[in-house]
Amino acid sequence: MSVLGHDHVRVDGRDKVTGVARYAVEKRPDDALHAWAVRATVPRGRVVSVDAESALAVPGVVEVLTWRNAPRLQDAGDDELQVLQDDRVAYRGQVVALVVAETLEVARETAATLDVRYETEPHDVGLTIDHPGLYAPEQANAGADTDSARGDVEEGLASSAHVVEAVYETPALFNNPMEPHATVAWWEDGALRMVDSTQGTTPTAQTMATLFGLDEPQVRVTAEHVGGGFGSKGEPKANPVLAALAAKAVGRPVALAWTRQMMFGLAGYRTPTISRVRLGADADGRLEAISHEAFSQTSRLKEFTEQTAEYVRHMYGSRTALTTHRVTQLDVHTPSWMRAPGECPGAYAIESALDELAHAAGVDPVELRRRNEPEVDPETGAPYSSRQLMECHDRAAELFGWAGRDPRPGVRRDGHWLVGTGVASSSYPAMAAPSGARVTARPDGTFRVGVNATDIGTGARTVMLQVAAEELKVEPERVHVHIADSDLPHGAVAGGSSGSASWGWAVAKACRALRSRMATERVPDDGLEVVVDTSEDLQGRAQLARFAYGAQMVEARVDVRTGEVVVPRSVGVFAAGRILNPRTARSQLLGGMTMGLSMALHEEGLLDERFGGWANHDLATYHVAANADVGDVTIEWLPEDDGELGPLKAKGIGEIGIVGAAAAVANAVWHATGVRVRSLPIQPDKLLDRLPG
Ligand code: MOS
Repeated sequence: MSVLGHDHVRVDGRDKVTGVARYAVEKRPDDALHAWAVRATVPRGRVVSVDAESALAVPGVVEVLTWRNAPRLQDAGDDELQVLQDDRVAYRGQVVALVVAETLEVARETAATLDVRYETEPHDVGLTIDHPGLYAPEQANAGADTDSARGDVEEGLASSAHVVEAVYETPALFNNPMEPHATVAWWEDGALRMVDSTQGTTPTAQTMATLFGLDEPQVRVTAEHVGGGFGSKGEPKANPVLAALAAKAVGRPVALAWTRQMMFGLAGYRTPTISRVRLGADADGRLEAISHEAFSQTSRLKEFTEQTAEYVRHMYGSRTALTTHRVTQLDVHTPSWMRAPGECPGAYAIESALDELAHAAGVDPVELRRRNEPEVDPETGAPYSSRQLMECHDRAAELFGWAGRDPRPGVRRDGHWLVGTGVASSSYPAMAAPSGARVTARPDGTFRVGVNATDIGTGARTVMLQVAAEELKVEPERVHVHIADSDLPHGAVAGGSSGSASWGWAVAKACRALRSRMATERVPDDGLEVVVDTSEDLQGRAQLARFAYGAQMVEARVDVRTGEVVVPRSVGVFAAGRILNPRTARSQLLGGMTMGLSMALHEEGLLDERFGGWANHDLATYHVAANADVGDVTIEWLPEDDGELGPLKAKGIGEIGIVGAAAAVANAVWHATGVRVRSLPIQPDKLLDRLPG
């Protein structure tokens, strides 16, 4: 009997589709009050006055929190979380007051009419490649080095037969999970209790403990169901802090949720990126030089440096290489994690530039990638634990029908459509983080698994059940899984595509230990329990380059009359270790590829520089791909048996689908039209004047 590696329906599926599953603010106690955030209407300056008195006179209003009366917070190393602590306004839309009322309607209406006066200062919100504030941070995100160099890249470029130099840009992109950021908080005898929509209850509990000067066991955070996150709930934002502040101030439970509009300004977003890429190759297309200089923005409150140039460091061999990250502080809210942070915009730039190089060198783009396969990780010299990038390309080519492709751009016409095909590679690190797990055998033959996983819609809860059933060698019906509770043993955040590998490692370890005890021990009436932690297992791992890989191929059609781009078919083939649940895995990859298509053609945060804020901040004006935009999508994965990944042999699949997807579309649009758009999204106005008649 094998459960792992086979389809298993979501254990929470029925509850979700029947509406039984409850999300954060739906789990509020009966006596909960409602809070509504009041946001700054100036992009920079300070709050001069708030007419709380008039607001408090409104029937049903219980409290108006401002920087003057909000409880004080300790420093948790993130000034975005220092809400209502001083009079400064660091960006348009920052929370400057919180109205707490008996009903949601009263809170909202009072917040909308609250009289807040400001002193305004000149602001700067525009990122440019030559912004005077650009500096080299000490590190880029996720521990990535700021800069790296191998050999002399200028010499490498000078001695190259073919050189491509181009600047690629991605706009601000907004995470929009179905469930907004939301929290219910209450205090019991000095202890803080929260139901939060988060990707990790452990980090939320730790941060809240620090902010409120509590010991970690005094904070309990649960997140039974989470309606998506895409990275934006990976670290706490202002909502849990505000809810806890308000609950403390009024002595009652408080519920707080962002509206969809607030998601564009309080939830985090992917920074706009600018990538200056220079590639040099010999006559055969072998890379002599890779140079990737990445530019992004952060806020005045916190340094956040998207690790955009990290992708290429581990991806392709080159005799010389240079990568840099520069960031500038603007009067904007702090960028945050968004699906494949770093790899996603980085791969858009690099995989586009490689396509330009393939054309310049007269080499097929798949063949070009084959010629630049490294023996070992070019950045670190570490061997790969496994690397099936070209196997992915070869299988994708078979499924797509790549062979015999005419490389000439702009020559295939089908009525009023120009037709082209494009390819890009994908890669994402295969990470794992320390986690604990508790498994209990009950005398009735059932098992209880406690693991602080968070299921943000990925199927994590189901996969943990499968891991436990597999390792215990029992039917899944006998296993009960409890997740998303900071009172459980410490669990890794649902991020970095590392959740299943991290939590599953702990569950597998605990189940193996329990099984061996059960071989010799009777299960007592109160159960037989095993608690484990994987910290030491992870420390003992070999120094290897662990990455998942993929190849994406798409067909694009461009309407010569309107510039409209459609993508009728795409193929994604991935090598991501062992696939634990094909049914949920396919959803993750499909979701990632769709998000990449959406990034390629639709998504764009439009900044009004005079106003200092986002002009589009809802799903009517910030366009995302709808069902009708997604054509035929074929997804496969290759068998992979990588023994260097931990007991599950899994690499993670949450993010790799978006990596390279936008480049594949951009490359196909170029192949269709001969027009190279280097600034996403590829909207009709960027094509229309340049299309062949
Ligand atoms: Mo993912 S953006 O690391 O949650």
